[in-house]
Amino acid sequence: MNSTDSKDFTDSTTLPDDAQRFWERHYRAQRAWGVRVNPLLAETAAPLRPGDALDLGCGTGGDTVWLAEQGWHVTAVDISGTAVARVRERARELGFGERVATQRHDLAESFPEGRFDLVSAQYFHTPFPLLRARVLRTAAHALRPGGLLLVVDHGSAAPWSWNQDPDVHYPTPDETAAEIGLDPGGWSVLRADMPRRRATGPGGETATVVDNVLLVRRGAA
Ligand SMILES: C[S@@+](CC[C@H](N)C(=O)[O-])C[C@H]1O[C@@H](n2cnc3c(N)ncnc32)[C@H](O)[C@@H]1O
Repeated sequence: MNSTDSKDFTDSTTLPDDAQRFWERHYRAQRAWGVRVNPLLAETAAPLRPGDALDLGCGTGGDTVWLAEQGWHVTAVDISGTAVARVRERARELGFGERVATQRHDLAESFPEGRFDLVSAQYFHTPFPLLRARVLRTAAHALRPGGLLLVVDHGSAAPWSWNQDPDVHYPTPDETAAEIGLDPGGWSVLRADMPRRRATGPGGETATVVDNVLLVRRGAA
């Protein structure tokens, strides 16, 4: 996915509808409903004591379901009503229904209520203009003291990615941190790096990909 930010934001009145239609169509057309947890979320959350988590752009819900399995109470949010309905259904089927609250939000317009110990934004990319930094700043403000905001972005295009544009710029963790613009007296950056990992594509093929990882904690260093 292309990452977009405030520099690209042009028209708040018409674009959110287009984004909603795009993601609705995407999830309605999805035949295989992937439910794997994203590895950097698992690595980050595994040592934590479960509390309240927010999954921003939850998609097919692999992260939400994994967090609920670990004992977290999860608010799963997506612009696609189909996605959040299926995540809710899957959590119920697995017996974690009471730990998962799903909400449809266009995060360009609204943000869920509540305070969280962990906010996760995994590959929160969209081909539509979105004030992503504003969403992430709101997320950082929704953290309880000591809470973590984990942002994992693509740092490279996998060979199976639809977007093979060689000119696409993936924001580095430092750029994302600068865009969010958090006061260092209130938040500290615990991690800003670009690890490589072996990823598996939809047809079972593998490739090395780069992730751009930013981990912020509410509280001064
Ligand atoms: C690239 S997918 C990543 C999904 C999931 N986090 C994962 O790791 O597989 C981006 C997700 O963000 C959601 N999304 C895009 N724009 C959004 C918006 N304005 N508000 C809420 N969700 C949005 C999409 O519906 C999609 O599920």
